[in-house]
Amino acid sequence: MPDNGASQGTIQKVGVVGCGLMGSGIVQVSAVAGRQVLVHEADATALEKGLGRIRGSLEKLCSKEKISAELRDRSLASIHTAETLEELSDCDLIVEAVVEDLAVKLDLFGKLGRIAGPRAILASNTSSYPITELAAACGRPDRTVGLHFFNPVPLMKLVEVVKTGETDDSVVQTVREFARSLDKTPIEASDTPGFVVNRLLVPYMLEAIRMLERGDATKEDIDTGMMLGCGHPMGPLTLMDYVGLDTCLFIAEGWHERFPENPLFDPPELLRQKVAAGELGRKTGLGIYRWEGDKKA
Ligand code: 3HC
Repeated sequence: MPDNGASQGTIQKVGVVGCGLMGSGIVQVSAVAGRQVLVHEADATALEKGLGRIRGSLEKLCSKEKISAELRDRSLASIHTAETLEELSDCDLIVEAVVEDLAVKLDLFGKLGRIAGPRAILASNTSSYPITELAAACGRPDRTVGLHFFNPVPLMKLVEVVKTGETDDSVVQTVREFARSLDKTPIEASDTPGFVVNRLLVPYMLEAIRMLERGDATKEDIDTGMMLGCGHPMGPLTLMDYVGLDTCLFIAEGWHERFPENPLFDPPELLRQKVAAGELGRKTGLGIYRWEGDKKA
């Protein structure tokens, strides 16, 4: 785990918009790496839940001696909440991690373009939308970049740095350094649908749910197949529940709308039904599997 001794590059103060699963993880790893963090979450319940998740995660890491009690406390002390977006105006980096809905993100980037300081870097944790469109919405395409973390953020070592044709090279270098200081490995990706990881992962997960729909195999056997046959830590159906079926559907629908000719992106009917029924996976206790907290029941 990084400590405050880690090189902090030029990014000292981090703003995070959204304190859901991903946002809270980004807040946490930034704080552990010694940054001052300001988090803005419009939904008070989601904010409380997100802060609770951070406390729980830091506690767990501390009990496993991955971080010291001192670092846990120091990290918690460096996290502050912002009631308004305007409070993020002096952040060096603002990371957007709100719901995966393009209209919401475009609106937010428009506001961030007006609020952020002139040298601020604006980043999106979007898993599927074009960074180019967000960059245009904020009017600062040279200072906008994709910064895509993976779930669970405190444990997953990868960050995708997504540059558009207009992202300044120095911005890419700065966020790469920032990712390294969080003890993550950055990879660079172009602004193509799903970047590197989700372009491969999402069609794979959608095909797994189609297999289940067709009755080709049971959910347990599909998952066991990929765990034991390919050495994946989780099978695709467990992973969909873990990520959230609503998130998977948002991504598939967004791509299907933009690229209707690509059958890999067709949203499976079973996925639509589960989401319509509110069975979203781990976060609602029921998805493809039944969940008790973080574990499958
Ligand atoms: N903070 C602290 N500790 C955590 C944690 C967190 N956020 N999440 C899990 N842990 C702990 C668990 O509680 C567990 O502790 P325990 O041993 O005391 O019970 C420990 O970490 C290990 O967890 P598991 O027992 O579940 O064991 P695993 O070895 O399976 O590790 C895992 C968990 C790292 C999540 C592993 O299963 C894994 O790598 N799964 C695949 C995850 C993946 O593919 N993520 C990418 C999703 S795609 C994505 O995010 C992109 C998006 O855009 C869609």
